[in-house]
Amino acid sequence: MKKTMITFWVIFAFKSFVIGQTDSLIILETKNTQLVYSVKNNSKVYQIYLGEKLTNKVEFTKLKSDKEIYIGAGTSNLFESAIQTTHNDGNPSLDLHFVGKELKTLNDNVTETIIKLADDKYPFEVKLHYKAYYNEDVMEQWAEIIHHEKKPLTLENYASSMIFFDADKYFLTHFYGDWAKDMRVAEEQLQSGIKVIDSKLGTRANVYQTPFFIISPNKPAEENTGEAFAGTLAWTGNFKFTFEVDNQNSLRLISGINPYASQYKLQPNQTFTTPAFIFSYSKSGKEAVSQNLHRWVRKYSLLDGDKPRMTLLNNWEATAFNFDEQKLSGLIGDASKLGVDMFLLDDGWFANKYPRNNDKTSLGDWDVNKTKLPNGLGVLVKEATKQGVKFGIWIEPEMVNPKSELYEKHPDWILRLPNREEHYMRNQLVLDLPNPKVQDFVFSVVDNLMTENPDIAYMKWDCNRPMTSSFSPYLKENQSQMYVDYVLAFYKILDRVRAKYPHLPIMLCSGGGGRIDYGALKYFTEYWPTDNTDGYERVFIQWNYSYYMPAIATCNHITSWGKQSLKYRTDVAMMGKMGYDIMISHFTDKELKFSQDAIKNYNRLSNIVWFGNVYRLVSPYDGNRAVVMYSNDSKTKAVLFSYTLNTLFKEIHQKVKLRGLDASKKYKVKEINLFPDTKSKFVEDNQSFSGDYLMKIGISVSPNTPLTSNVYEITAE
Ligand code: GLA
Repeated sequence: MKKTMITFWVIFAFKSFVIGQTDSLIILETKNTQLVYSVKNNSKVYQIYLGEKLTNKVEFTKLKSDKEIYIGAGTSNLFESAIQTTHNDGNPSLDLHFVGKELKTLNDNVTETIIKLADDKYPFEVKLHYKAYYNEDVMEQWAEIIHHEKKPLTLENYASSMIFFDADKYFLTHFYGDWAKDMRVAEEQLQSGIKVIDSKLGTRANVYQTPFFIISPNKPAEENTGEAFAGTLAWTGNFKFTFEVDNQNSLRLISGINPYASQYKLQPNQTFTTPAFIFSYSKSGKEAVSQNLHRWVRKYSLLDGDKPRMTLLNNWEATAFNFDEQKLSGLIGDASKLGVDMFLLDDGWFANKYPRNNDKTSLGDWDVNKTKLPNGLGVLVKEATKQGVKFGIWIEPEMVNPKSELYEKHPDWILRLPNREEHYMRNQLVLDLPNPKVQDFVFSVVDNLMTENPDIAYMKWDCNRPMTSSFSPYLKENQSQMYVDYVLAFYKILDRVRAKYPHLPIMLCSGGGGRIDYGALKYFTEYWPTDNTDGYERVFIQWNYSYYMPAIATCNHITSWGKQSLKYRTDVAMMGKMGYDIMISHFTDKELKFSQDAIKNYNRLSNIVWFGNVYRLVSPYDGNRAVVMYSNDSKTKAVLFSYTLNTLFKEIHQKVKLRGLDASKKYKVKEINLFPDTKSKFVEDNQSFSGDYLMKIGISVSPNTPLTSNVYEITAE
C-alpha cells in the first residue's frame, strides 16, 4: 500500500480511435484477441467486445452496449457491482465516470493501458490497469483505488475486474478438491442467477476450490475447437469469482479478493491495489488457452521460468521424522547413486526443548536438533557436496505449535481468538504475519539457514493449515483487514527473501495442493500439487493442473503410494518436474537400473516437457487411457506419454493422431523408458513417419494391458 499525493486527474479528450461525434474506443489487443471499450458522451465506459480480432476496427461503431466496465454499488445498477463503499457523509453510492486514459508501451510485446475513472460528486478514483501481452495472447487487469475524503472509507467490495460475455449458453469448467483429492474437475451450464467460486482459507488460495476456471460460450469446452476463456487471480489468499447471468442472458464475471470478512479501511490518499486478474481467450479451445498461459507464466510470472530445475531425492515418505545423521548420510549416498541433482531434507530436523519427532510440537523453533544432528546441518551439506549432489531443506516458517519455545516467548505473535479455545489444524496455529516483528522472524528463518549454511541450494516452504478462529493481536480494531494484510505481509517477506537470495530455488508446498496461484509464483520456482502421489490418481490430477500450470513448475515425486509398477509411477512423474521420495535402498537391482536410466532420459528430454507446448491428446475422462504430448517450439523434438488406466477387459485402443509437429518434417519414433530385460511391443518402434502422417493417421501408442504406461521420444530427422 503506498501513499500518494492528491492529484485530480485532468479530463482530456483523446485522439485515438475517435469514432463518430461522441463515442471513443479503447482497444486492448493481443495477437488474436481484442477487448474493446467505448466511452460514451455520458462519460461512462462500456465493454462492447471481447473475442477474436476484428479486421476492420471501424465496424466496432456498429456495436451497442450498456455494460459498464467497473460498476459501483448504490446507484442504478440492479446486479452485482465491482466496488462498494459509503462516503463520509453516509451516501452509500459510487458513480464512476471516465476522466482519462494513458497508454504505455512497456516493450515490443507488452502494452499497458490505464483507464481512469472518478466519482463526479465525491473525491473517489479508480485506475483500471490492463496489460496486454501480445505474443502470449494473455491480458492482465487490476484496479488502484484511492480517495481524498476527510476520514477513512471502508471498502466493502473491491474487484480486480469485471468482464461481460454475450452468448446463448455459458459453460463453466472449474476445479475443486480436498486433501489428497486435489484438482477434480466439474463442468456445468450456468443458468440465470449467480454462481460463486471462492475460498476463505486465509493462508492460501485453494484446496476446496481452485482459483482457475474456463468459460466456454455456447457449448462445453473442447481441446481444439470452440471459444475458451481461461481466467485466474494472482492472489495467495481468499478469492472470489462471481458468474452472474442476468435478465438479458448476458454473463457478468467479477473477479477479485473475496470480500468475505474483509472490509478494508482505506485511509485518505492511500492507494489500495487489487491483485491482477489474468486471462487468455481463444477460439480454438482449451489447448490454446493453456499453452498461452504456460508461455506467459514461464516468461512473466514464475521465478526463473526459463531456467532448468533440479531432480531430487526427498526423505519425507521414506523416513518421516525418524532419522539421524547416519541415516541421512546414507540417503545422500542414495541420491548420488540414483543420479539425481539434490537431496532434500524434509520435516523433523529442528528444535531442542521440544524436539520435532512428530507433528505435535516444535514449529517455530528453527534451531537444529542436537540429538538427531549433533554436528549440525553443515556436515550434511558437506557430505552432499562430497557425493556430488546439492542439499535442500524443508521449513514451515509461518506456523507455530503450542508446544514450542516460540509460543511460550511470543504469545502475542499468534493469530487466535481472545476468549475462545485455540483451534488447531495439524496441531498448529498461524503466526500474525501483519506484525512487522513476525515478518522479521519469518524472514530470519530463511536468512539464518542461508547465512549459517551458504551452500544450501534449495528450500521447500510449507504451509500446512488454513486460518480458522483467527484474530490478529497486531491489527487490533482492524480485524477485517486480517485476510488481506496477511497475504500482503507474506509478499513483503518474500520480497526481502528475493532481494537477498534472488535465485534460490524454493518449492511452494501447502499440505498438499493449496498454495497454487499465479501471485505466489513470482517468488517460487515450483509448487507441490498434492500429497497424493498414487501414479493412477496423478494421471488425472496432473491432467487438470496442466490447464494452467506449466510442467516445469509441477513437482511430481515417485513414492511408494499406489499399487502401480515403478515404471508407471516414474512415467507419470516425468510429465513435470521429476523427483523421488522413496527408499532407494529397497529397490531391486533392476528397479535401480531402470530409475538411473529414467533419470538420464529425463535429463535429455526435460527441456521439451518444461519449455515445450502441451498437447492433451486423449483425455482420461473419455476412456481408459490418457495420452499427453509435449513438443518444442521449433517442432524438432517431442515426447509422448501414454497411460492405460484400469480396464477390466483388454480394450482395443485405436491409433492416436499427434499434434504440435511439422507436417513437412520426418520424425523417428522410439519407445524409451523400458524396464530392464523388456522389449518394446510398439509395432511402429524406431520407424520414421512424416509429421503429416503422424498428425493425420497417427500411431498405436497404448497397449491394452491395464495400468501400463509408455513413453515415446519423437525426433525430427
Ligand atoms: C506436508 C507436505 C509433505 C511434508 C510434510 C512434512 O504435509 O505436503 O510433503 O513435507 O508436510 O510435515
